[in-house]
Amino acid sequence: MKREVSSITSLLGGTIVLLVVLLAAVAGFATEGDYMDNYIGADADMVGTDNCAMCHSDLAEEEDTHAAKVSDDENGCEGCHGPGSAHNGNVLGILNPTKMPQEETTATCTSCHEEQGAFTLEDWDESSHNEAGNSCVDCHLGHSSNPFFLIKEDVNDLCADCHEDIVTAVEAGDHGVEGMACTACHNLHGG
Ligand code: HEC
Ligand code: HEC
Ligand code: HEC
Ligand code: HEC
Ligand code: HEC
Ligand code: HEC
Repeated sequence: MKREVSSITSLLGGTIVLLVVLLAAVAGFATEGDYMDNYIGADADMVGTDNCAMCHSDLAEEEDTHAAKVSDDENGCEGCHGPGSAHNGNVLGILNPTKMPQEETTATCTSCHEEQGAFTLEDWDESSHNEAGNSCVDCHLGHSSNPFFLIKEDVNDLCADCHEDIVTAVEAGDHGVEGMACTACHNLHGG
């Protein structure tokens, strides 16, 4: 009896997996590998932030964003999006860090930040967040105007998105200290 139940369960499980795979194929979801394979901007030239501003003036004018912080034309928008001469509106010619595979995004961001900040690439590689598959842009956005390190939202709300159980534990007095920033005790980049 038990065996019957488990084989029905695994049959059902198998069918669901198959359905998901089929649906994904029909919807045309690309894998991350496909994203880099389809990219045509690898040999493109830098065009500078002023060029981007012609069509993306809304983004170029925001304050406190990464481009505003870096403020070097050569490394402005293209530091994260790659050289722009093959783009001019064609999405295959420009990179979006949230669509890139985790290790490509890491390489882009750490190309400048490895030694500049408080962590090295090695620290990050060994961190729980890296091992769990999180990428830099799961927490930071280039366009965030959050003056607290360009994070997507206020720090404890950001943590709560993925660690709701811990937030509940904090409220119950079983973890950390209520009202204290999670980052007062936790190092997010390893090391
Ligand atoms: C001639 C106008 C034009 C210029 C110049 C331009 N863009 Fe775009 N860009 C567009 C349009 C239009 C889209 C939306 C395309 C779509 O959704 O099909 C876009 C989309 C994007 C995207 C989203 C891609 C994605 O897959 O999510 C990024 C990132 C981007 N542009 C960055 C840049 C950067 C950086 C520059 C300067 C190097 C730049 N753009 C210059 C017109 C332009
Ligand atoms: C520190 C890295 C970084 C820099 C610098 C940066 N971006 Fe982005 N950009 C991102 C990330 C990450 C996303 C994906 C955000 C998302 O889709 O939620 C993005 C998304 C975009 C998009 C598509 C989505 C949208 O918001 O319309 C455009 C267009 C774009 N960036 C243009 C620019 C322009 C123009 C500049 C320079 C003024 C710039 N970016 C500078 C990281 C960066
Ligand atoms: C071309 C070099 C370059 C690239 C690429 C780059 N950054 Fe930066 N980033 C900088 C510089 C320079 C600053 C300003 C440093 C400062 O103010 O101390 C900065 C600032 C930041 C800050 C804010 C630090 C603070 O003190 O407020 C964060 C967070 C950040 N970058 C994350 C990222 C992420 C995530 C990526 C990839 C999506 C990225 N950066 C890509 C050069 C770069
Ligand atoms: C789990 C969320 C999370 C991830 C993933 C993450 N960060 Fe951060 N990062 C933060 C927060 C929150 C801060 C604010 C300061 C702190 O407490 O570390 C920060 C601070 C920073 C700073 C400024 C301070 C410093 O240590 O130099 C930089 C630069 C930075 N992050 C870059 C990155 C890069 C590059 C990656 C990917 C390799 C990344 N971060 C991945 C959440 C994250
Ligand atoms: C996008 C989802 C995501 C966000 C946002 C996020 N985390 Fe995580 N975090 C994870 C995952 C997944 C793991 C690995 C599995 C686990 O331990 O829960 C992890 C692991 C951790 C660990 C390590 C556990 C260990 O055993 O080493 C700590 C500490 C942590 N996160 C704190 C934070 C803090 C503080 C924030 C907010 C600044 C944050 N995280 C934001 C997904 C996230
Ligand atoms: C007063 C210090 C302190 C504060 C504040 C704090 N923590 Fe922790 N946290 C700890 C300690 C100590 C551990 C256990 C360390 C270990 O086992 O490596 C821990 C463990 C964790 C872990 C991994 C273990 C688990 O139970 O999954 C996560 C995830 C975590 N904390 C997230 C958070 C988040 C999210 C916040 C903010 C809501 C937060 N912490 C606030 C001290 C703190």
